[in-house]
Amino acid sequence: MTDQAPPAYSGPRRVLSGVQPSGALHLGNYLGALVKFARLQHEVETFIFVADMHAITVWQDPKLLAGQVREITAAYLASGLDPKVATIFPQSAVPQHAELAWIFNCVARLGWLDRMTQFKEKSGKHKERSSVGLYTYPVLQAADILLYKATEVPVGDDQRQHLELTRDVAAKFNHDFEVPGFFPLPEALTQGPGARIMSLRDGSAKMSKSDPSDNSRLNLLDDADAIAQKIRKAKTDPEPLPATLEELKDRPEAENLVGVYAALDGRTSEAVLAEFAGQGFGAFKPRLADLAVAKLGPVSEEMRRLMADPGEIDRVLADGAERARAAAAPILAEVRKIVGFWGA
Ligand code: TYM
Repeated sequence: MTDQAPPAYSGPRRVLSGVQPSGALHLGNYLGALVKFARLQHEVETFIFVADMHAITVWQDPKLLAGQVREITAAYLASGLDPKVATIFPQSAVPQHAELAWIFNCVARLGWLDRMTQFKEKSGKHKERSSVGLYTYPVLQAADILLYKATEVPVGDDQRQHLELTRDVAAKFNHDFEVPGFFPLPEALTQGPGARIMSLRDGSAKMSKSDPSDNSRLNLLDDADAIAQKIRKAKTDPEPLPATLEELKDRPEAENLVGVYAALDGRTSEAVLAEFAGQGFGAFKPRLADLAVAKLGPVSEEMRRLMADPGEIDRVLADGAERARAAAAPILAEVRKIVGFWGA
């Protein structure tokens, strides 16, 4: 007998992604995720949610959480997502996410979760005191994706490992329950210079909501002065910019700023270097600041306008939740049957 690969998934393409409402959104979230959502919605059926169930794996003030969900939604809309085209919803309003996550908790293996680097980073020295939810977080993420049989997941580079786990869960489910091709093996869409934006203070650390230094990131709600000042203060080196990416290899801060410029301008880093080769940061930084203000200014202005009308945001979320529940229900009903639950 020969080993044959199981039949591949043959359903339609679908995009799904989400962002946690756990702090101010920054340039990394915008370039690594949000701008891609807006682009993809016109090509493929797109589901974008606010990951509030993921957010509570670490403490969130209950008085603030719903407001944070609205803020992320405002950022989605301000960066071009159209609620008539994409389905935009809060994760916790679709209870099937939790139901499928439980089933996947029984499919995923402890050894797989033990390898997750994000849990190690987030739990630090206090593993025993971390919530169980923080540990099984990637399993919920697999459920988010597979509940809609999503085939493509636009995310930053830091989510690659979670996507690999999603594929492992899908493959094991298909195999163990003998339903080849039932779940797709989704791809992480991480192409482009925006997939890994680094801290403005340290080119070896990623730009992050949890960095204690606000100067390390450009927040989507920063005003023009703050953006210009943070870029002026960004760590660099005294060398001029080279002509090739190869020569930037050991200059992480310089490489990052070139990448930011490229991602904001919708160009490649090579094209940016072709324009700025030979120039120092004294010339490059003001140009980058102008570009960042021109691109981010309208986004933050639109976010503020939307946040002033929470009723409109809530209508978008309620409508999206209804559509998401309707899309999830038949898939979860099939899963219940496959697992053999009573009454399914
Ligand atoms: P979160 O909320 O940490 O980040 C949201 C998105 O922003 C990307 N990102 C970055 N991209 C480039 N450079 C950076 N410095 C940077 N920092 C963050 C992230 O990769 C992400 O795409 N686990 C997810 C949320 C989630 C999810 C999902 C995503 C839950 N379920 C299902 C996709 C599919 C997270 O914590 O993202």
